[in-house]
Amino acid sequence: MERTFIAVKPDGVKRGIIGEVIKRFEQKTYKLVAMKLMQVTPELASKHYAEHIGKPFYEGLIEYITSAPIVAMVWEGVDVVEGARHIMGATKPNTADVGSIRADFGQVMNMNIVHGSDSVSSAEREIGLFFNENEFCDNYKSMYEVLCEG
Ligand code: RTP
Ligand code: MG
Repeated sequence: MERTFIAVKPDGVKRGIIGEVIKRFEQKTYKLVAMKLMQVTPELASKHYAEHIGKPFYEGLIEYITSAPIVAMVWEGVDVVEGARHIMGATKPNTADVGSIRADFGQVMNMNIVHGSDSVSSAEREIGLFFNENEFCDNYKSMYEVLCEG
């Protein structure tokens, strides 16, 4: 089992499509193990997007991710890092597969609704940035775990 960090970005929160995003991870039977509505500070934003420091879109990215609350989540499942990226779709909504969140709800790359970790090591780093140990609630079985038991 893997874990990944998923966030509904400010445009998704303001548009009222938090439920749409969550629904897609639930219907895949991934397991939600942590979730909170939160305001990202510039300091946290710069740590989260450290790999993009110096790029032409960096300042706008920080402004955007701190512009309104996000919904931060941790989801667990088999190869969930890869699976979540597939559910989200490509960074640019117009090249994302139809049926993905970004294709179905987005028009432009700088408001692409959802974030997902791009590797297992990124997931570990991002989960550590956004959540404390005591914020996890994983003492239950997801439907996937129940089905696997037969
Ligand atoms: P994210 O980290 O937000 O899940 O998105 P991603 O992995 O699909 O894309 P990434 O390369 O990590 O870029 C982070 C966010 O920066 C914006 N971006 N703008 N104008 C540009 O060329 C450009 N490139 C990236 C996007 O909002 C992207 O989600
Ligand atoms: Mg990324």
